[in-house]
Amino acid sequence: MEKIIEEDRQGSVLLVGDQRKHARKLYIESYGCQMNFSDSEIVASILVKEGFDTTQELTEADLVLVNTCSIREKAEQTVRKRLEKFNAVKKVNPSMKVGVLGCMAERLKSKFLEEEKIVDMVVGPDAYKDLPNLIQEIDEGRNAVNVLLSKDETYGDIAPVRLNSNGVTAFVSITRGCDNMCTFCVVPFTRGRERSRDPKSIVEEVNELWAKGYKEVTLLGQNVDSYLWYGGGMKKDFDKATPMQKATATNFAKLLEMVALAQPKMRIRFSTSNPQDMTLDVIATMAQYDNICNYIHLPVQSGSDRILKAMNRLHTREEYMTLIANIKRMIPDCAISQDMIAGFPTETEEDHQDTLSLMEYVKYDFGFMFAYSERPGTLAARKMKDDVPEATKKRRLREIIDLQQKHGLYRTQQHIGKVEEVLIEGTSKKSDLHWMGRNSQNTVVVFPKEQYTVGDFVNVKIENCTSATLIGNAVGFSE
Ligand code: SAH
Ligand code: F3S
Repeated sequence: MEKIIEEDRQGSVLLVGDQRKHARKLYIESYGCQMNFSDSEIVASILVKEGFDTTQELTEADLVLVNTCSIREKAEQTVRKRLEKFNAVKKVNPSMKVGVLGCMAERLKSKFLEEEKIVDMVVGPDAYKDLPNLIQEIDEGRNAVNVLLSKDETYGDIAPVRLNSNGVTAFVSITRGCDNMCTFCVVPFTRGRERSRDPKSIVEEVNELWAKGYKEVTLLGQNVDSYLWYGGGMKKDFDKATPMQKATATNFAKLLEMVALAQPKMRIRFSTSNPQDMTLDVIATMAQYDNICNYIHLPVQSGSDRILKAMNRLHTREEYMTLIANIKRMIPDCAISQDMIAGFPTETEEDHQDTLSLMEYVKYDFGFMFAYSERPGTLAARKMKDDVPEATKKRRLREIIDLQQKHGLYRTQQHIGKVEEVLIEGTSKKSDLHWMGRNSQNTVVVFPKEQYTVGDFVNVKIENCTSATLIGNAVGFSE
C-alpha cells in the first residue's frame, strides 16, 4: 500500500518515444513529481529542435537522460539503481552518453560526476536551454555541468513536446521554484526562488492544447496559490514593482478565471495548493466556473500545531480547519486530498494523534503519505535530530494510511447512485472491455466501453466502489 502511494505521487516512471530513422536517439526517463514530467516535455522540445528523435528503447539510445527527484532518500536510491542499469547497457554501447537532470543534479552538482562514473552531464532544472551547448561539450569528450538557478526562467516560450500522452490530459506549468522553506523540504534548494510565468503564454498553451484535442489541463506549481505575474521576476521582488505593475498584476484566482474563460469546455485542475496561501477568491472562482474541477490537493503534513510550527508551515491546525470549512461551504462536493509526513523530528504520540484527529475531521478523499526522510542541507537536517525511531515512523505511517483508506471508502461510497460526468482517458488497467476516466473530484471511474471513445465526456451512473475507484455504467454523452 505504502509503495503504491509512493509510486503514484513521486515515484512513477515515464518512458517516452517515437521512432524515426537516422537522427540521434534520445531516451528520457522521469521520476518524482508532475513538474518533472512536465520539465521532461520541455527538454524533449529543446532537443527535438536540435535534431534528436525520442526512443523508448534504452539499448538504441545515443543520449540517455534521467530527470531525477530528491524529495526523499528512497527517490534518490531509485535513480542510483537505474544508473547501474544504464552502466550495463553502456558496456554494450560505449558511445552512449548519460545526463542527469532535475533535483538530484541540482543537489549534488559536479559531485555526481565523481560519485557515479557513468554520468557525463549534470543539468539543473533552470539550465535546460543550455542543453545544446552541454551536449556539444560531452560530444567533444568533456564532462558538462550547468546547475545555475535562475531568477526568471519559466520556459514560457517553449512549446512542450507531449510525451507518452493519452492525448486528453496535459500539464501546464505556471510557476517554478518555491519560497516557502518548509524545514523538511529540499525543493527550495533544488528548484530555486519562486517565479511565475506570463499568463498570456499560459493561456496560449491551453488554447493550443484544446486545438489539438486535449480536454483537461492541470496547472502546475509547487505552490500555485502564490502565483503572481507583474511583468516578470521573482515573487519576493514584488515589493519593488512599479505602482502600474502592482495595479495590473495577475494573481492565481485571476489566472484561473482567464484560463476558464479562454476554454470554457476544457476541464481545469491545478496542483499544488498551500493552505497558507490559498485565498477565498480562489475557492469563489472555482465555484463560479463549471469547467474548474471540484478538487483541491491541500497538503497539511501534520495535525499538530507544534509540529506545523517546527516544519515552518505558516498556518495553525485551526486555520487549516477553517479553510476546509470554507471550501465545503462554498463547494459542497469538493474533494480534498492530503500529503502527510509521519515521524518528523520530535513528533510525539500526542502529535501523531492530532494528525489522526485532523484526518477524522476532514475525511480526505485521497492521500499521499510518507515517513519523514532527512534531506541534507534542509533546516530540519541542520537543526533537528532525526529522533523518531524507524519502527515508530513506520507504525504511525501505517495508522495514517489505514485511516486514509477508511476515509477513501467513505468518500467513494457517497458517489454511489449518482450520475457523474467522466472524461475518458484510456482503457482500464484491469479490463480491456472497460474505460477508465475521472470525475470532477479526480476519482477514477471505470465503466463498460460501449460506443464511447477516449476524450469523450460521458455521464456515468455510479453503481459500486472500492476505496479508490468508482464502478458504473454510461448513461449517455454529457453536454
Ligand atoms: N509543494 C509541493 C510539495 C512537494 S513535496 C508540491 O507541489 O506538491 C511533496 C510531498 O512530499 C510534500 O507535501 C511532503 O508531504 C513530502 N515530503 C517532502 N519532503 C519530505 C521529507 N523530507 N520526508 C518525507 N516526506 C517529504
Ligand atoms: Fe516544499 Fe513546502 Fe515548498 S513542501 S515545495 S518548501 S511549500
